[in-house]
Amino acid sequence: MRISNQLAAAFISAMVSQSTATPVSDTSMGSLIRNVGAQQCYYPPNAVCSEYMIPLKITSEDLVFNFIQWDNNFALEQFFAVASTRAAAGYPTVIGGSKNVTRDVEIAASFCTPKSPSGKEKEVILATHGIAAGREHWNSAYKPETYNFVRILCPSQFHGTSMLTPCNLQVQHAIDDGYSVFFYDRLGCGLSTKISGYDSQLSNQVVVLRELASLVRSGKYTGSVGVPAKLALMGFSFGSYIVQTTIAETPDITDSVVLTAIELDVAKGVNANGLVRSFMPLIASSLSEKRFGELDTGYLTWRDVWAMSLNYFHYPDFEIAAAQYTEDKKQAFSIGEFLTFPSGNLDSSSYTGSALTITAETDYIVCDGWCPGIYKDPAVDYFANASALVRHLVPNTSHNINFHKSAPETYKFILDFLRENL
Ligand SMILES: *[C@@H]1O[C@H](CO)[C@@H](O)[C@H](O)[C@H]1NC(C)=O
Ligand SMILES: *[C@@H]1O[C@H](CO)[C@@H](O)[C@H](O)[C@H]1NC(C)=O
Ligand SMILES: *[C@@H]1O[C@H](CO)[C@@H](O)[C@H](O)[C@H]1NC(C)=O
Repeated sequence: MRISNQLAAAFISAMVSQSTATPVSDTSMGSLIRNVGAQQCYYPPNAVCSEYMIPLKITSEDLVFNFIQWDNNFALEQFFAVASTRAAAGYPTVIGGSKNVTRDVEIAASFCTPKSPSGKEKEVILATHGIAAGREHWNSAYKPETYNFVRILCPSQFHGTSMLTPCNLQVQHAIDDGYSVFFYDRLGCGLSTKISGYDSQLSNQVVVLRELASLVRSGKYTGSVGVPAKLALMGFSFGSYIVQTTIAETPDITDSVVLTAIELDVAKGVNANGLVRSFMPLIASSLSEKRFGELDTGYLTWRDVWAMSLNYFHYPDFEIAAAQYTEDKKQAFSIGEFLTFPSGNLDSSSYTGSALTITAETDYIVCDGWCPGIYKDPAVDYFANASALVRHLVPNTSHNINFHKSAPETYKFILDFLRENL
């Protein structure tokens, strides 16, 4: 376990979602099977989507934190003032042991499959979003033709149409693919169960993914597709560390992994103290009672779009409106996630499926601003037994790769990888 006196961690990731719906310019809605009320504010017109609330009984071995829970922002700031400085040396570790906990939770999920069967719709990508986001990370309502990954995955309707969009090329490229995608709100996010922010952490998020992956593999929650022929686990940021820990613990769980906004040399790449200072978290409910009032003080958020942009975006390689969209849709993140995000077992050398890692060149969060030179190293050992390993560096891009101008090219890279390796 990497966490010791200092916050061996930091966070990660990014973005989207929240109940305040942004008007959607693309009004051509996809078909929706309304199983429950858990709806997205956008549906790709080329997809058929099902919505689910999935009951799970999960047991995880969770870390017990031994710091006093804060009841105001001054106490929170003092915690970080100690935890992110030399002062931490004079304090006991923040970890007070571990315990097994069983919980009944519900996970909100969407499953989208191409409207026109592509022959590849039985190949399912199961996507896990990062910190401070919801499942809309993959399903942007803002300029979906550019930023929406789910829409890209279900491209069949675009066949023969002329789309004058930046990702025209990529959509054309993906026509023969037409994957299905299952994407969900992580525990504590979106419409899924909110456990305490002092409890939500890597261990229970890994168990949720493991359970979801085996349900999806057995043909549950896959709409009309039934039992998938292939499964790929995809992650963004904290979601990628969750995927990585999951395949380290249960290597047979998937055929392929796509890890975005990850860098596996945590000791070299993650500047935990720096992240505490640049995120400058506050108690989420103190910033917006309306958005975050149901969350306890273990849920945090950064102050504004500029604090977010320092950590997630590389100016001027993004549209300001895209960054603002991610801020408008952000979710709170839990202190438990923040402290544990890269702390799991990352050694997946027993895993024999294929792997793609995607790292942004100037990723502030996982590389302390500069990934060349460090993003490749441990991956070779961790994927020593993988059937394929591709490591990709995205130029002119920081952490939130789905919302930089480079997003369409990144998506094309992912689809090319899956075509070869899933
Ligand atoms: C949690 O359960 C596992 C499996 O039964 C066991 O090996 C482990 O020691 C338990 N951990 C704690 C802290 O009780
Ligand atoms: C990798 O594969 C080799 C050959 O099958 C095997 O001997 C080795 O134990 C594997 N490594 C791990 C960590 O599973
Ligand atoms: C990336 O950034 C470099 C240096 O800032 C610039 O020269 C180059 O044109 C950029 N590339 C793209 C595709 O924007």
